[in-house]
Amino acid sequence: MAVVARIGQDAAFAASVLRQGGVVAFPTETVYGLGADARQAQAVERVYAIKGRPRNHPLIVHVADPGAVMAWAREVPPLATLLIGAFWPGPLALILPRRLDAPNAAFLDGDSVAVRMPAHPLALALIAQAGGAVAAPSANRFGAISPTSAEHVAADLGDDVDYILDGGPCDVGVESTIVSLLGEIPRILRPGGVTREQVEAVVGEVAVGPAPTEVRAPGLLASHYAPRASLRAVRSGGLEAALAAYGAEARAAGRAPRFGLVVRKSDDVAAALAAIDGTPTALIALDDTPAGFARQLYEALRQLDAAGVELIIACMPEPNGLGAAIADRLGKAAGERT
Ligand code: TXA
Ligand code: MG
Repeated sequence: MAVVARIGQDAAFAASVLRQGGVVAFPTETVYGLGADARQAQAVERVYAIKGRPRNHPLIVHVADPGAVMAWAREVPPLATLLIGAFWPGPLALILPRRLDAPNAAFLDGDSVAVRMPAHPLALALIAQAGGAVAAPSANRFGAISPTSAEHVAADLGDDVDYILDGGPCDVGVESTIVSLLGEIPRILRPGGVTREQVEAVVGEVAVGPAPTEVRAPGLLASHYAPRASLRAVRSGGLEAALAAYGAEARAAGRAPRFGLVVRKSDDVAAALAAIDGTPTALIALDDTPAGFARQLYEALRQLDAAGVELIIACMPEPNGLGAAIADRLGKAAGERT
């Protein structure tokens, strides 16, 4: 693994790196971001290069106060104002009509811009001291699992970044909810840390999923959040059948099963394991609450990858509340890989 140039908790230093056109990984309450000053085109280009991300996936502009949105959006609809009041700072990104004279518009997606005010104190200090607008995707290589600790960032990106601002493990653990306010009613493009139920309590009914006109909805690519191992996500009660199926496949291929499990503490794993002739290489039992499960999930997937399993079977919580974001990420990690 490459050695990181600098890693620490110095937000003022990190901000000076950004002002000079550098790239800094920083903590948010959701996942770590890979930030550049949103106004500096070359710095933003470096973020794309480090991530290996296609240029047609725009970055979220992170702000340190709601007023800064006006530098990027030409309009903040009333429902956006309500959402900002209810959930900022927090795990909610808004897609708004973009100001056509916004700085460094090159990286922005046509007529819209994504904005978010994160809830982590180090992120807010960094953004404010760096000039008020930090463009950042999650701090992983394109297609890999988002980092939820500074160690994850260092393992993924090594010394490709100029500084890693270490704010400890992320509290939410899955990415922000993305809500588009471009259409008639608000549309959830990506479920995340703020639940659909919470959003609807503020703005009424919402649409969910990509709009027909919004071709670049997030995470539509296969295996967008994927670990290296194959992954199968099952609902409660589906573990036994999944184990039996995998056991039969491994036998048919003449191989010993080599699998890892992510379950909830309350799942009855012992009973399900009777369905397979073999024991898991690694078994990780996560918190029973969706919030606890989400917080621990990406770390668990990384640990199972490190254990060298060929298949991860994950038992999902119910797909409501925060469970919707978990089901979305596990579904994408499983997509077209089995
Ligand atoms: O929690 C988060 O949102 C984290 C932290 C670092 O803030 N960031 C994050 O960024 O997950 P990223 O780039 O990994 O995912 C943001 C998604 C991308 O799929 C991108 O294509 C989409 O948001 N996006 C950005 N601007 C958009 C726009 N104007 N219209 C539609 N989708 C947009
Ligand atoms: Mg990402």
